[in-house]
Amino acid sequence: MFKLILIFFLLAQSLLYANPISDRQELMRDYNKLMRAANNLIRENEINDDLASIYEEIEEIIRVYPTLFPDDSFGGKSKASTDIIDNRELFNQIAKETENSAALAKLSAQEGEFENVMQFHQNLFGSCKSCHSRFKN
Ligand code: HEC
Repeated sequence: MFKLILIFFLLAQSLLYANPISDRQELMRDYNKLMRAANNLIRENEINDDLASIYEEIEEIIRVYPTLFPDDSFGGKSKASTDIIDNRELFNQIAKETENSAALAKLSAQEGEFENVMQFHQNLFGSCKSCHSRFKN
């Protein structure tokens, strides 16, 4: 009986907490793909609602992203630096700025404002390096 309870408990836990490492790595791959899709639309001068919805997805990804780094989720398959644990404020701040750039890119795309889209798209591209150089091994 005890074993059964234990198995049930472990199962429930793994369902609740899934695997933050693989979850966040998948989100980064999605972010990468979405940026490429946005690039293609911009290159074809398609500043429209499709582009806006890509930025909306990015906004959503980067909003949840910093919640996927519990203290016990470092090492192993993860390339995340333990600096995240020691500097959560900065990590969260970079994520927040990225989220804001995505929100502004979305609005600009909806309004068809090419120059602004370019500006905020560049900011999103800059986010990769500013976060990776500090927080990715
Ligand atoms: C707020 C911080 C942050 C931002 C912004 C960010 N990254 Fe990351 N990225 C990380 C961290 C941390 C990892 C390592 C996560 C891990 O392995 O646990 C990572 C990992 C990755 C990976 C590897 C995923 C895998 O399969 O293991 C890719 C690809 C990636 N990032 C692409 C990007 C791109 C492209 C951008 C910008 C357009 C970007 N990232 C912006 C923090 C960030």
